[in-house]
Amino acid sequence: MCGIVGAVAQRDVVPVLLEGLKRLEYRGYDSCGVAVYADGALRRARSTQRVAELEREVQNDHLAGFTGIAHTRWATHGAPTANNAHPHFSGPNHGQPRIALVHNGIIENYEDLRSELQAAGYVFESQTDTEVIAHLVDHLYAGDLFEAVQQAKRRLRGAYAIAVFCRDEPHRVVGARQGSPLVVGLGRDENFLASDALALAGTTDRFIYLEDGDVVDLQLARVWVVDDTGRPVERESHIVHAYSGAAELGPYRHHMQKEIFEQPRAVADTLLDIESITPELFGDAAYKVFNEIDNVLILACGTSYYAGLTARYWIESVAKIPVNVEIASEYRYRDSVPNPRTLVVTISQSGETADTLAALKHARSLGMAHTLTICNVATSAMVRECKLHYITRAGVEIGVASTKAFTTQLTALFLLTLALAQVKGRLTEKAEAESLKALRHLPVAISAVLALEPQIIAWADRFASKENALFLGRGMHYPIALEGALKLKEISYIHAEAYPAGELKHGPLALVTEHMPVVTIAPRDELLEKLKSNMQEVQARGGELYVFADADTKIVAAEGMHVIRMPEHYGRLSPILHTVPLQLLAYHTACVRGTDVDKPRNLAKSVTVE
Ligand code: M6R
Repeated sequence: MCGIVGAVAQRDVVPVLLEGLKRLEYRGYDSCGVAVYADGALRRARSTQRVAELEREVQNDHLAGFTGIAHTRWATHGAPTANNAHPHFSGPNHGQPRIALVHNGIIENYEDLRSELQAAGYVFESQTDTEVIAHLVDHLYAGDLFEAVQQAKRRLRGAYAIAVFCRDEPHRVVGARQGSPLVVGLGRDENFLASDALALAGTTDRFIYLEDGDVVDLQLARVWVVDDTGRPVERESHIVHAYSGAAELGPYRHHMQKEIFEQPRAVADTLLDIESITPELFGDAAYKVFNEIDNVLILACGTSYYAGLTARYWIESVAKIPVNVEIASEYRYRDSVPNPRTLVVTISQSGETADTLAALKHARSLGMAHTLTICNVATSAMVRECKLHYITRAGVEIGVASTKAFTTQLTALFLLTLALAQVKGRLTEKAEAESLKALRHLPVAISAVLALEPQIIAWADRFASKENALFLGRGMHYPIALEGALKLKEISYIHAEAYPAGELKHGPLALVTEHMPVVTIAPRDELLEKLKSNMQEVQARGGELYVFADADTKIVAAEGMHVIRMPEHYGRLSPILHTVPLQLLAYHTACVRGTDVDKPRNLAKSVTVE
């Protein structure tokens, strides 16, 4: 998604802005730009290529200045052209530009504002909703940018973050957030703004996380914040030393591959040397909250939603608490029947996903106050908005396709299952000890699965020529089949669908021919015999099975059936192990097809718009 960087300093800020954009590249974008104040005027460079190309342009044009803003754009309104790229300029009566502005998010009433501003004489050069804000700020400008932005904000509807500066007040950058993240980076006689603290790693480690409705005035030696009502507010600053080394690939070809191989470490870090299960792992109030609830509602999107679907099997079978799992973008607009005795659980890698945040707020507005998040970013809006939390320690995930975030989410959700079961009196000491032992051994077990990579590479060579694939799983491995199919389509662009294996005969079997690869997850669990019957249904129609079978299933390769032998069955944690080969299959298939694995087309890492 879009990224923002801004700076006001007494040195040339262009290197800081460009470095910030590079750090935000992983989020996905299709154009980029930078604007600075130099020699009494606003200057900018914009590109529909990568940030490296923008950097070349900037060097050729000798663009430099002590105040500036920069942006990576993920197109929503208007195609990814140079004209639509940010920063957008505005000025009175077609004169020299006075206002430069970048924006993340969506302005819902931009059409009305556009007509109004056109009537006031503004000429639009782009199809974006962003240009409306630039002209609106200019229209309201009467010598004080901070005041003009506060006034403009009152006219905007939607979710957004902006950074803006003005030719007539060159030592000032003003930011505002409403629904999209924005942080202030504090320096010594210089200050910065960004949509993610990661953008400013290496520049500062002191950050203020702005809250919804805040407008911030950044000057050289002053940071001034007002809230939604215009009242001055103190926002706490935090030291954040994150992200170092995350951008280095080491021996890997892509971040996704690196992140797949980081999973043993990420899962171990997420487990935090836990010696016993206690609800307090999720926050001081957790015991009281877990005691008061009698059902769970999980809200999430994409891969995080599939983690929620897996958790439903665990929570219902171990803690015996009914669970609903809802796609956040559906739940937020659906009429549902609220129950105040619900534990609302959001799951999110980024902690900034607009739909999940909105679904959480919707649940709260319906009177469900018991909220908990499983999140990978401790400083995110999701963590701030929820009463309880568990931070997965996957580390920064750069590949757009989620990998280590998913397996660490599952790890945290298993801990949640155990904690809920304990509070409800359904976890014996023996079961607790066995579960902890299995969790502690998980990193080693994942490493054993990673060692299967050479066999998976051989499969990927065959997969790369396919245009469709089916994924089958049963029980708690069905969500893993969904995740495997999502991974394959996301990065290799092969159309893939996942089904509970028992559902095949109710329709999708019609698709099975000798051209259809059918990836099957075959754990040695109580559904194995049923699964084998489903596999025969595929073989009988000439379908080609690619089976990831636990060693103790005794499934062997045969005509039309390829088998990769997994370690022995890993009990309730088996879905975590079975995720890993599907990630590797998607990754290597995408490599053979030559796609942009870390930045697949049309996708963004952190989806901060609806
Ligand atoms: O940051 P979140 O976990 O809230 O993101 C949710 C989805 O956008 C995300 O999982 C997406 O589906 C991934 N690209 C999947 O690989």
